[in-house]
Amino acid sequence: MTTAAKAVQTTGTTAASARQVTKTYGAGETRVTALDSVDVDIQRGRFTAIMGPSGSGKSTLMHCLAGLDTVTEGRIWIGDAEITGLKDKQLTKLRRDKIGFIFQAFNLLPTLNALENITLPMDIAGRKPDKAWLDQVVETVGLADRLKHRPTQLSGGQQQRVAVARALAARPEIIFGDEPTGNLDSRSGAEVLTFLRRSVDELGQTIVMVTHDPVAAGYADRVLFLADGAIVDEMLAPTADSVLERMRRFDGKRTS
Ligand SMILES: Nc1ncnc2c1ncn2[C@@H]1O[C@H](COP(=O)(O)OP(=O)(O)O)[C@@H](O)[C@H]1O
Ligand SMILES: [Mg+2]
Repeated sequence: MTTAAKAVQTTGTTAASARQVTKTYGAGETRVTALDSVDVDIQRGRFTAIMGPSGSGKSTLMHCLAGLDTVTEGRIWIGDAEITGLKDKQLTKLRRDKIGFIFQAFNLLPTLNALENITLPMDIAGRKPDKAWLDQVVETVGLADRLKHRPTQLSGGQQQRVAVARALAARPEIIFGDEPTGNLDSRSGAEVLTFLRRSVDELGQTIVMVTHDPVAAGYADRVLFLADGAIVDEMLAPTADSVLERMRRFDGKRTS
């Protein structure tokens, strides 16, 4: 299993892709087009941020890419594996084997310590964690001296770093985060973002993060800008300032 997962990680340069993906909710007069013919490729070993106004389709795009929601039209791949058309059981297995998630709420189990929380998904799946990898993850997140602590004994930033370590521990092909720093103060947010950055630079992880925060987006390699369910722009090597400036221009367009 571990060998197969590693082999997948080192082949190809695209970790996820979408072709002509449309997602509509509801029908008739209440029909909403959340995604409108989206084409996107997410590069492996990169940190991609998805930005856009509230309601622009950020969460929907992430959920469709991650197989948490079905598309109305179009196709999605995780690595070489097409996920559109998979049966529930196959999709659940693919998500478990290839995808990690970090949510706004840390979703840690209060009765387990940090280390037990980190290895829980693998324990449930009956997989043995790779000890060397786990040590490296724990070291990178800076949690080595906190492993025996319960979530209530950790700060918000530390709890979210446990959640990130949990996502990384299984060496997923790709990690998705929806506003992973949304519940954190700026200092804890910076702590988690620095760690996400390091996991890309030092561990080769692929990360896709939805955010509305230009500072958070400034940690990414690439920012995709969504508006009304379509990708309207992208920026490489973003900084907080350049992202903010770009957002102001969008706002200007909309109000003029
Ligand atoms: N489950 C749902 N049922 C109906 N409409 C939805 C649902 N989820 C999202 N939408 C609508 O789809 C659009 C995009 O939503 P979303 O992806 O959550 O945007 P964002 O994450 O950028 O704020 C919005 O108009 C939203 O109201
Ligand atoms: Mg959202």
